[in-house]
Amino acid sequence: MRSRAAIVREPGGAWSVEEFELDPPRAGEVLLQMAAAGLCHSDDHIRSGFLSAPAGSARVQMPPTIGGHEGSAVVVEVGANVTGFMPGDHVVTSFLAVCGHCRWCTSGMEYLCDTGAGTLMPGMPTDGTFRHHSRCGEDLRHTSKIGAFAQHTVVAADSLVKIDPGLPLVPSALLSCAVPTGYGSTAHRAGVSDGDTVVVIGVGGIGTAALQGAALSGATNVVAVDPVVFKRDSALQFGATHTAATVSTAAAVVRELTRGVMADAVVLSPSAIGDADVADALSLTRKGGTCVLTGMAAPETGSVRLDLQDFILMNKNLCGTLFGSCNPTTEIPALARLYQEGKLKLDEMITRRYRLDDINVAFDDLLGGRVIRGVIDFSLE
Ligand SMILES: NC(=O)c1ccc[n+]([C@@H]2O[C@H](COP(=O)([O-])OP(=O)(O)OC[C@H]3O[C@@H](n4cnc5c(N)ncnc54)[C@H](O)[C@@H]3O)[C@@H](O)[C@H]2O)c1
Ligand SMILES: [Zn+2]
Ligand SMILES: [Zn+2]
Repeated sequence: MRSRAAIVREPGGAWSVEEFELDPPRAGEVLLQMAAAGLCHSDDHIRSGFLSAPAGSARVQMPPTIGGHEGSAVVVEVGANVTGFMPGDHVVTSFLAVCGHCRWCTSGMEYLCDTGAGTLMPGMPTDGTFRHHSRCGEDLRHTSKIGAFAQHTVVAADSLVKIDPGLPLVPSALLSCAVPTGYGSTAHRAGVSDGDTVVVIGVGGIGTAALQGAALSGATNVVAVDPVVFKRDSALQFGATHTAATVSTAAAVVRELTRGVMADAVVLSPSAIGDADVADALSLTRKGGTCVLTGMAAPETGSVRLDLQDFILMNKNLCGTLFGSCNPTTEIPALARLYQEGKLKLDEMITRRYRLDDINVAFDDLLGGRVIRGVIDFSLE
């Protein structure tokens, strides 16, 4: 069939909205009609070439790629051997495919699934071949095996999580990446609990969800750090109790709040983590506290400088997180329930909805700091 998608054709180039050819779903695959797609900074990292397939797979070979991984959709057709989904089902995409059988899936760590680990590699998770092709016949990659910036896409059934059909599809798209990644960074990876002091550095889509995770986990003080005034003002609606424009201002606030003890947990979720940011974040972390790296770093950022004596002698924890260390199959529905109960704010995170054709305007708004989350709403076509 023919559909339309936003495609990155060369690293650093603009999104090109084009018609493309889509093959029917094969065994283990599902054809989707996209309802909404959130604009995650990782999509811009793929467009710019900042984020690419792991070493060994030449970065220059990334495009052409259909963008988008944070989506909600309606199932149109299922391929052979698909048992969990049927046409009409409402789903959220999972940028980490979950096989359900590997060591990680079977021990409660779906976010480390061996199939999901191939998220930046080309081809379908099912058999490595391509379902998406340009009008002139070239194979198209689809970001994170999803390709959410398309009216229709074919994905592995393993890349989908069914949601309650009563949930509105547009805010549900945020359950696909921003919300679990941010919420899980504080609630799971940092293990925030009652009375904690938490700092979130970078309060865009992911950081705003991290603020909500901290507040819902019982944190007493939640400090949002962002250079953009609009982000700092917005943070106060999502659980931040204090804001700061820089880490050094935040340090003074945290020192005062904790009588010099410093933060139990620090989540680093800026647009991109640079080599000085990790030491800065650790300087805000109390002894025995946890610093979580959630933002992406460039492949060239091979080393960071740390005050190692402070790190060791203060017994600090520094960790990365993928998807906020959430299990997509259980935690996307759990977060949906928190939304239905009015505890988790999704609608309020969506600053603006865009047509697919306006995707370059949407990313300009993201890069200009004008949105918490922008969403492509396919009903606006
Ligand atoms: N670990 C994961 O699984 C995962 C998943 C999704 C996204 N990410 C990454 O998370 C990061 C954030 O993504 P997003 O979609 O929320 O981006 P975003 O653009 O919505 O938000 C980033 C925020 O960081 C702020 N910022 C930039 N530099 C800063 C600095 N030095 N100090 C404080 N704030 C700063 C910006 O003003 C913005 O508000 C990106 O690097 C993205 O690639 C990681
Ligand atoms: Zn994302
Ligand atoms: Zn697995």
